[in-house]
This record gives sequence, C-alpha cells and structure tokens, in this order.
Amino acid sequence: MPAASRARERGPGREPEVEPHAHQRLILTSGEDRASAVRYRRGVESTSTAGAQSPLATPFTRHAGVEVPLICGPMYPCSNPELVAAVSEAGGLGVFQPISLTYVHGHEYRAGLRLMRRLTSKPIGMNALIEQSSKRYHARMQEWIDIALEEGVRFFITSLGNPRWVVEKVHAVGGVVYHDVTERKWAQKGRDGGVDGLIAVNNRAGGHAGAKSLEALHAELADLGLPIVCAGGVGSEQRFVEALDAGYAGVQMGTRFIATDECRAAEPYKRAIVEADADDIVLSERLSGIPVSVINTPYIQSVGLKAGPLARWMLRGRRTKHWMRTIYALKSIWQLKRASLDESGSKDFWQAGKSVAGIDAVEPAGEIVRRFAAAARARP
Ligand SMILES: Cc1cc2nc3c(=O)[nH]c(=O)nc-3n(C[C@H](O)[C@H](O)[C@H](O)COP(=O)(O)O)c2cc1C
Repeated sequence: MPAASRARERGPGREPEVEPHAHQRLILTSGEDRASAVRYRRGVESTSTAGAQSPLATPFTRHAGVEVPLICGPMYPCSNPELVAAVSEAGGLGVFQPISLTYVHGHEYRAGLRLMRRLTSKPIGMNALIEQSSKRYHARMQEWIDIALEEGVRFFITSLGNPRWVVEKVHAVGGVVYHDVTERKWAQKGRDGGVDGLIAVNNRAGGHAGAKSLEALHAELADLGLPIVCAGGVGSEQRFVEALDAGYAGVQMGTRFIATDECRAAEPYKRAIVEADADDIVLSERLSGIPVSVINTPYIQSVGLKAGPLARWMLRGRRTKHWMRTIYALKSIWQLKRASLDESGSKDFWQAGKSVAGIDAVEPAGEIVRRFAAAARARP
C-alpha cells in the first residue's frame, strides 16, 4: 500500500509513522526545558547539529535548525509536499501552505504533514495567513497551527494581521515565528507581537510583491534587531550570495522552486518561467484586487491588468469592500488552482517574480539548494 494511503488510514490523532526529528521534539515539561527552549528560539544555540556546524550559519539557520540559509517560500497553489520535503532534505527549509496542501493537492491536512515527515526528517515550516477575514477561517487556521505543532513543526511564517496569538502558541513549545513584511510599520507591529525574525518582501518578489528594493528594505529594517530574510528577486546563486553579502540572514525563494521536478505545477507554467525575462513580469489586479506579479502571457494581455469598474466601485465602499474581498478571495483560489495544474496552458494566470531572469532550466529542488550552498561557501 502506498505510504500516503497508509497515513490516511491511520487518521488524525494517531502516532506518526516516523519519529519527528530530534530538534522538533522540543516538548516542554520543566522550567529547565523552558529556559533551553527560549535560548533555542533566540538562535543563541541550536539543538540541531546541522545548524550549529554549518559554515553558512546565520541567526536564521540557528532558529530553523537548518544548514543552508535558504527557504522554499510558501506558495498557493504551488507548494506540494514533495517540493517542501525535497528542499528541507537538501538542507534548506521547505515551508508549506495549508490551503495549497489540502485544496490544491488533495491531502487531508494531518496526513499531508505526515507525508512530509516520511519524506524528510529535517525541519519544515508552516505559513499562517492570519488576516481575520472570517471567524470560520480564523478557527480553521488556529486548528491548523495546533495540528502542525502536534506534528512537530517548529518554524512558522505569519502573513498579514497581528501575529501575537501565533507567537504565544509557538513560543510555548520552543518554536519560532517570522513575519512577512513589506515596510517598517508592519515590521514594528510584528516585533511588538513578539516575532523572532522578518521575511522582507521586496519589489521583485513573486506573489504579492512589496514596493521597495532589496537594499532599501534591508536598510529600513536593519536597526530593529531581528534577523531579516530576503524575499524576492533571487533566482540565481549569484543573487543569493549578493543578498547574504547585503546583510540578510537568509533568502526565501518562490519562483525558482516552481521550475523544479518536484513541483506539481503544469509543464507549460514551468516552461514559461524558464523562458521569461524580468521584463515579462507585470502586476495584475485582475485576480485579487491587489497587485500580483504574473507572467505577461497573451491571456493576461487579453483580460487586462486593472480590476473591472464594478469591482473598483465595490472596493471603495465601506460595506461592499468586504464582500468584494471575499468574492476575490474565492475566485482567485479557484482560478489559481486551475491555472497551475492545467497542462493545456490556455488560461495561464501564472504567478512569478522578476527572479525568472536567473532561471534557465527545470531542475531537482535539492540540486538548487546544494548549488546555492556551494556558491555561498565559496565566498572569500
Ligand atoms: C506562485 C506563488 C505563490 C505564492 N504564494 C504565497 C503564499 O501563499 N503565501 C506567502 O506568504 N507567500 C507566497 N508567495 C511568496 C513566496 O513565498 C516568496 O516570498 C516569493 O516568491 C519570493 O520571490 P521570488 O518569487 O522572486 O523568489 C508566493 C509566490 C509565488 C511565486
């Protein structure tokens, strides 16, 4: 019987088939344990020998317990368990996206986590999009975080909203929380909420890009005293090394990892990333009302980049804007799933960042991690 079916059969609440990695079994039972968890969280020491011994060690690698300061960023709809696990297994940190795991790739949530645990015993992370759009979604997210903690996940990336409640849950068992930010005011909010690090999303990122350059964002956040991970514009090992040299504690890549053997996105999507140049990336509001970086295909050109007049009118109204956001959220979830899996490539709503410029081939995800790590090690 395939491993995935065995996991589904065991169902929620039973013991995982594979023992979680030692660093992920950090369950607190005494005051001493709690103190060591706090030291771990601060990145002062790591329970992972990989993190401690690596010549690439940064505050981020110590926090995450990984060897290479490289994250495969959460991607709706492109994060599938095989991709997340391949990056972690090679020494980086694969971060899963719960809606992608369940709705796009069809895994029962806990079974999906256990599948990743069978594919790698190294740390993985979870993305928690914590915008309080509906009570039902908030309750679901709380449950997802609790299950992730039960299954040994100790690294979390929060997006939007106030991360304090996530920080409280995660710190209680010795984990760490990094917060997605595009500017200083959100970083301060995250720091006030107790986060351990920042994911700095710049103006070259895939998905919802920021407005500031890699260098400007680092300068704006550097004095906050938190490790900063660069998200956006890194597709080649040269850019990876440049980001580390610019002072970042790590790099989060999305687009680069779509063009991999393990990513389950359709072949035309992967090919379009390999063939695209930075100039082919445009910002479209058609999907969610908020600008998203996509490849400028004939389909995108035919539908235009701006939200329609009715949507714009609804987004301006105090009441109607909430309805419009809900409509957009549901529509984009469905539309992105269809576009990413459609092998015909006809309705090509393909999210990608300007990092396409450095991507020349579809490769195994582990090869990318190893090549980038070698380039960083070879620095003088
Ligand atoms: C297809 C796609 C989907 C994404 N979805 C999410 C998401 O669901 N949550 C999130 O926090 N970031 C998301 N991102 C952002 C990535 O995690 C990462 O920060 C970004 O891709 C970095 O820029 P790059 O694409 O130039 O490497 C997405 C990016 C892409 C390309």
